[in-house]
Formats: sequence, C-alpha cells, structure tokens
Amino acid sequence: MPSISQKGLSMPESPIRKLVPFAEAAAKQGKKIYQLNIGQPDIKTPEVAMQAVRDNSIEVLSYSHSAGFASYREKLAKYYERNDIHVTAEDIIVTTGGSEALLFAMGTITDPGDEVIIPEPFYANYNGFATSSGVTIVPIESSIENNFALPPISEFEKLITEKTKAILLCNPGNPTGYLYTKEEVQQIADLALKHDLFVVADEVYREFTYDGVKHNSIMSIPGLANNAIMVDSVSKRFSMCGARIGCLVSKNKEVITTAMKFAQARLSPPTLAQIASEAALDTPLEYFEEVNEEYTLRRNILVEGLEKIEGVKVAKPKGAFYCIAELPIESADDFAQWLLEDFEFEGETVMVAPAAGFYSTPNTGLNQVRIAYVLKRENLERALKILEVAIKQYSSK
Ligand SMILES: Cc1ncc(COP(=O)(O)O)c(C=O)c1O
Repeated sequence: MPSISQKGLSMPESPIRKLVPFAEAAAKQGKKIYQLNIGQPDIKTPEVAMQAVRDNSIEVLSYSHSAGFASYREKLAKYYERNDIHVTAEDIIVTTGGSEALLFAMGTITDPGDEVIIPEPFYANYNGFATSSGVTIVPIESSIENNFALPPISEFEKLITEKTKAILLCNPGNPTGYLYTKEEVQQIADLALKHDLFVVADEVYREFTYDGVKHNSIMSIPGLANNAIMVDSVSKRFSMCGARIGCLVSKNKEVITTAMKFAQARLSPPTLAQIASEAALDTPLEYFEEVNEEYTLRRNILVEGLEKIEGVKVAKPKGAFYCIAELPIESADDFAQWLLEDFEFEGETVMVAPAAGFYSTPNTGLNQVRIAYVLKRENLERALKILEVAIKQYSSK
C-alpha cells in the first residue's frame, strides 16, 4: 500500500473530539450526557441572518470574489470601526471560518521549520494548523495560579530565535477565558516591533467579555500596522458555527496580497453563508447585551460551583466561554473516559475536554480539564452536581 505522509501521520487528533466514540456508546446505553467539552453555543442565531438566507432570490449559487463580497467587507470595516479598529474593505479577506484565516496567516508568514511562539494552554487546533504548515509551535507556559495572564516578556525573549516569525495570541483565550489587558497587548506589540515579528491575534471571542472589562484589539495598537494580523469569525459572535465564515485582517499590504493567493487557490468563501454573515452585522446591540448577561450568569454558576467542589481549582474567566479547572485527579484523560464508560449518576453523566491537548509541552495540564459554559443555567447546575459526585467516586476508586 502506498504510504501516508509524515505530515499526515503527525497531524494531532482533536482532544475535544477524541472522546466522541465513548460518548456515542454511552448515549446508546441510554445515558444522558451534559456536553461541557465543546464550544458549540446553544444561543439562537440572530433572526436577521436566517431571514436574509430565506429571503434571497438567487437562481445560480455562484462563486463569490476570492476576498469575499465587497458589500460584506465594507460592512465589516464599519463594524470594526465601531470597535476602534480602523481598517478598510481592502484590508479584509473573507475566509471559510476563522480556521481558514489561521491557515492563510501561517501560509503567508511562515516557511517550513519556522517558529511561532504561543502562550499555552492554547486552542488545540493551532497544533493542526501548525503541522499543516510545517511550523514549529514554541509554547510559553501561562499558569492557572494567575488566571493564565501573559507570561513575563523576558520569558518570551528567551525563546526568540532566528526562526521565530510570529507570536500568536488568542484574546480572549480559548481555553483559558483570559482577557489580555491593554498593557499586555502593548507589551507584545513592543516585543514584535523590537524583534521584527508578526503578531497574529485570534479575536474570535471579542464580544464575549465580562465584568465591564473591555477587549483590546491588536489592530488598535498604534505603529503596529505592518506586524499585526487579526483572525476573526462569525461562528461564536452570532452563534453561526455552521456558516463557516471568518476573515483575515491586516493593514500590511504584502500580507493581504500574499494571503489573497491562498484565497484564490480555494476560489471563494461560501456564498449563502456570506449573505447570512453580512445580514448578521445588522443584529441589534441588545442581542450582545443579552447574550453576555447570560454568559456572565453561566460563568458565575460554573466558577462558584467548581470552587465548592473539594480539591478543584479554577481560573475565573473574563472572556470567551471556557474555563480551565484543575481536578484532584492524576489523569484527566482517564477521568474523562471513565465519566463516559463507567460512571453515571441517576442515568446521567458529563463530558469534559482533557486539557493536556491544549498544551504542547509534554506532560502538562494532565490534571486539568476545559469546561465550556455553553449550556443553559439549570443544565450547568445539574452538570456540576454530577461532576462533584463523579470526582468523589473516581477518587475513592
Ligand atoms: C480560538 C478559536 N479560534 C478559531 C476558531 C475557529 O473557528 P471557526 O473556524 O468556526 O471560525 C475557534 C473555534 O472554536 C476558536 O475557539
């Protein structure tokens, strides 16, 4: 049989999805599973977006421009303007999800063997995008002890080599929920300017910030225009994960011209989903107020509930809708599988994402899990009860 590529063999499995077969088996046995493991919001997609798709009278579902509809990009630029991000339609390439924007960013700025520094734990699929691009991720550990704040800049400097091309920041963070302060974003910007590096900022959770704290975009830092690349998406903002629409944004013309070649190679982003995404920008601001209020309540239930469980440590998130919790166990991998295979409480169980897959340093985060608070409040409360019983039972095994 012809052999599979080394690259293919080294593609990591998604730590979020690898438990799915166990969940399917548990569901077959009739167990109810509370899914705390995946970032699929249960929030309704804005009606304006759905209606725009229903109302369209397209007769030929054609390709769009490789950079995406001009009308959508112009409207996006206005949306960014309202968020203190001063860009034009020409600085934006519409992509098939933020995922494709990340791939385009890596393809545009790195060659095989180049290095990208990323604070860990980080969004696990960065590993997959890096492998696809032949890029080496150089992790820099952030700690649950200080809610996963930015590690000291001196630690970043120690990791910079001739091969370093970029620093990748996820702000607010998945899986940490950490929201970088203006000072932290500025420190990264200064470091990038000093060492002539790109900063790729994944800001797909921009709107999801709590406790009155504001998001600070990499694009709003003066003097960083040539170094900053922003990755964005409608997936979480408008609860439109299935639309598969994101974008790559940069004021650096060379970055955009190069990324456009990748965009041309895949022809265009999805047409119907662009119609929905363009209309979604008319979503009334109250939508976000309501959504954020809901996520704040959920976060409070989750964090307070976790803190009450003996031996559990949790980093209180200020953004996105995830948190990392440290459990009084040795292997979260084993625990997560046991929850599905061997445990039930009144016919129910929970599914969590073992956090080790969000680290690239081996043997790190082994006793941590990522929990997404994308369930209704009453379900979260129930899931916490189940988790508490499970931890006790697992620990006394
Ligand atoms: C931090 C982060 N970036 C990017 C993505 C990619 O999202 P999409 O491709 O759906 O836009 C996700 C999805 O969960 C994410 O959490």
